[in-house]
Amino acid sequence: MNVMEAIRKRHSIRSYEDKEVEEEKLNLILEAGRLAPSASNRQEWRYVVVRDRETRQKLVEAAAGQAFVGEAPVVIACCAQTDGHIMRCGQPCYPIDVAISIDHMTLKAVEEGLGTCWIGAFNEAKAKEILGVPDEVRVVELLTLGYPTQVPEGKTRKELGEIIKYERWS
Ligand SMILES: Cc1cc2nc3c(=O)[nH]c(=O)nc-3n(C[C@H](O)[C@H](O)[C@H](O)COP(=O)(O)O)c2cc1C
Repeated sequence: MNVMEAIRKRHSIRSYEDKEVEEEKLNLILEAGRLAPSASNRQEWRYVVVRDRETRQKLVEAAAGQAFVGEAPVVIACCAQTDGHIMRCGQPCYPIDVAISIDHMTLKAVEEGLGTCWIGAFNEAKAKEILGVPDEVRVVELLTLGYPTQVPEGKTRKELGEIIKYERWS
C-alpha cells in the first residue's frame, strides 16, 4: 500500500470486531509512531497501551461515555513527558509532535488492515487517574485501535481552492 492509498483509506472507526490485535501488528504501529519527526527531535511522546477490558471500560467514562472506546480491543493513551517547550514560532511543540506520531500510527494501522479513531473528547484528569499517569505528564489524546466491522467510504472535506492560497494570504 502506498502512502496516498493509506491516507485515502483511513477513516475514523467507531465500531470494532471482538478480535484481538496481534502483538506483531501492534508493534509495527507503535514503531511507526516512534519514527515520527519532532521539534529538535525531542520525542516527548509516551504511550500507554491498554488491552485490559476493565480498564478500557473505565476509559469510556473518562471519554464522555463514548462506548466504542470500550469496544476497541486496544486503546492507546498518547501522552507527552514534556517541559512545555515553546518553539520560536510561539507554539508549544508537544501537542504537535504527539499528533504527528499518532498520525503515523493511524496510517500504519490502515496498512495492517486495522482501524483507529482519535479521541479528544475525554477528561484528562480522569484518564490520568485510571492509568496512573503522573502529574507532570500530559495525556494529549486517546487512540482506539482494532479491526473495523465496516469501513466508511469517501471523505467530507473542503475543496483545495477553499484552503490554499499561493504566495500571500492577501
Ligand atoms: C484531534 C482529534 C480529536 C478527535 N476526537 C474525537 C472524539 O473524541 N470522538 C470521535 O468519535 N471522533 C473524534 N475525532 C475524529 C474526527 O471526528 C474525524 O477525524 C473527522 O470527523 C473526519 O473523519 P475521518 O477521520 O473519518 O476522516 C477526532 C479527531 C481528531 C483529529
